[in-house]
Amino acid sequence: ASLLHLATASGNIDAVRALLTTGHPWNAVDANGWSAGEEARKGGFEEIYKFLVAEGARVEFLLSALGDDSASAAAPAPASAHPSNVGYLSRRLTYSEGKLLDSDNNAVMMGWEAPLMVLHARAIAPTPGLDVLNVGFGLGLIDEELQKLKPKTHTIIEAHPDVYAKMVADGWDKKDGVRIVFGRWQDVIYDIGVFDGIFFDTFGEYYDDLKAFHECVPNILRETGTYSYFNGLAGTNPFFHDVACTIAEADLSELGLTTRFEDIEMDTLGDDVWKGIKRAYWSLPLYRLPTCTFE
Ligand SMILES: C[S@@+](CC[C@H](N)C(=O)[O-])C[C@H]1O[C@@H](n2cnc3c(N)ncnc32)[C@H](O)[C@@H]1O
Repeated sequence: ASLLHLATASGNIDAVRALLTTGHPWNAVDANGWSAGEEARKGGFEEIYKFLVAEGARVEFLLSALGDDSASAAAPAPASAHPSNVGYLSRRLTYSEGKLLDSDNNAVMMGWEAPLMVLHARAIAPTPGLDVLNVGFGLGLIDEELQKLKPKTHTIIEAHPDVYAKMVADGWDKKDGVRIVFGRWQDVIYDIGVFDGIFFDTFGEYYDDLKAFHECVPNILRETGTYSYFNGLAGTNPFFHDVACTIAEADLSELGLTTRFEDIEMDTLGDDVWKGIKRAYWSLPLYRLPTCTFE
């Protein structure tokens, strides 16, 4: 364990402060992958926990302003375990038993997310007759839900040819008011109009990509509109997740968007859910569902 772990475990906030202000890494983990944040939670040291989250966000913010994300734990750079977006788009996908998998058995989308997609859909389309945009079709869970909410127009951006083929096979191109835009959002986002509701959930992309999308949002969201995104950032570590949420909230705020997080209690996802999947990407007890508006 690091000095930061020891200071945290003994509830000594002055020592924690002293270590962090003299350059001790905020995100050090012990041999079990346990962070100081988790140590603070375990000991019930809420003030230390909040300080660690704020400090983590501050350091990451600074590193990102300096153009250095090499030390980032909240938003790790693509490594071999994380397929890059362009690589992902060239690999074959399979739909099987309520899952969408790539050829390395990475789960692109899974059925357990369905209840969250219902909530995201309601957040961006609270009334009928709206113009809505969904980025990333996957299993079409949020799109099924958006259809029930009777939007005026429903645009879906999807970049993977196998997913696009499935959308056409399932008749999405023939539904009233639905427009499929086949391509990477990066290439098409400014050619498709403005919206009342926008949802973003892609794959093989990282915080920098999400941030780049957020920078587009003020240009494509109507003043009274609502934006939401799949909040899977650092979804297996509660402390890194809180830091990532804090960073996203601050970045969105700089763009004039106010973010509210609604806490959704999650059932424990057992081993059977992740059987055969390369990486279990979610294990947190709370899902923090973001809605962003210009208020
Ligand atoms: C996690 S799934 C989306 C799941 C969807 N929210 C649902 O409810 O089923 C991600 C989708 O984003 C697509 N995608 C990945 N990168 C993309 C990009 N750069 N532009 C557009 N779509 C992309 C993937 O092919 C995949 O279909």
